[in-house]
Amino acid sequence: MPVIKVEDIAHVRFAAPDLSVMRGFLEDFGLACFEEGGRLYGKASDGRPFVHVTEPGEARFLAVGLRAASIADLERLATHEGVAPEPLDEPGGGMVVRLTDPEGYLVEVVAGQECQPPTPLPEPQFNCAAAKPRQRAPVRLEPAPAHIRRIGHAVLRVSDFRTSERWWKDRFGLLTSDEVEAAEGVPLGAFMRCDRGDIPSDHHTIFLAQLPGKPGLLHAAFEVESLDDLMLGHEHLKSRQREAAWGVGRHIMGSQIFDYWKDPFGNELEHWTDGDLFTAADPPQKQTMQALLAVQWGSPHPMFAGKMAPPPGLVAFVTAMLLRLKRLFSRTPKEA
Ligand SMILES: [Fe+2]
Repeated sequence: MPVIKVEDIAHVRFAAPDLSVMRGFLEDFGLACFEEGGRLYGKASDGRPFVHVTEPGEARFLAVGLRAASIADLERLATHEGVAPEPLDEPGGGMVVRLTDPEGYLVEVVAGQECQPPTPLPEPQFNCAAAKPRQRAPVRLEPAPAHIRRIGHAVLRVSDFRTSERWWKDRFGLLTSDEVEAAEGVPLGAFMRCDRGDIPSDHHTIFLAQLPGKPGLLHAAFEVESLDDLMLGHEHLKSRQREAAWGVGRHIMGSQIFDYWKDPFGNELEHWTDGDLFTAADPPQKQTMQALLAVQWGSPHPMFAGKMAPPPGLVAFVTAMLLRLKRLFSRTPKEA
């Protein structure tokens, strides 16, 4: 049994040397920004006090926040870790338990935050051949930044997937949706979702990926209102000369329609819409690395953009070899 079952991701936290530069980008990206206590906060329309925080300092990723179901859960987690819940001195208040994972990531588990009522969403009115809910009303879209509803997930690069997976699952009750293998028996990482029983949960809330390179946040993702909203957001970011990273396309694992952008400090943020949801009854799946890099439609992964794409099988083979070598050299003499 895990110590607790978290409900969702709560926020991502960064440091940046110039909050106004970050704010300019976040407003183009579609977050409502405000400053308080010397920090910059980005809010979505779900009524939660914040989903993105920037503190002054050298540009870097600082922490990922998870939402516990109750203060009682926070206390259970704190007892397990031998720490105490602390008041969360930020907009919305509440309590926080701060933990450090095996990779050194700061994880801020929050509960009891004061929320506002969510902003009402427009009715879905997308005509398709099977159903035409929009009648006697033309489509007239206003150019604007995307409308971000909520934060959806974070992807963290790890150096030892199994160790990190154990730590996150044992504490937060995460379930694997898709485990990705570079080759058979060589796990690369897993898309993990929250266990909310019968309540459908996003395909992934945390993705731990053992990819070559230094540990760090690979991206944080934010759900927008619809495909139209995502595309208008794309046009807006492009018109503001922001740096596109990957998209638009539709993923295989999670099925989201995605659009990735870089903030001015090199952090990658994603807009997505129309993702998969699963309940606790849905079993984990195994997937190949090829399926991770491929798209159902849209832009190829930037690793392949503008070049002759190496066969995905070759990419998977090289990654599997690197992982096997790492496994070999990281064994203790007794294991070997
Ligand atoms: Fe993503």
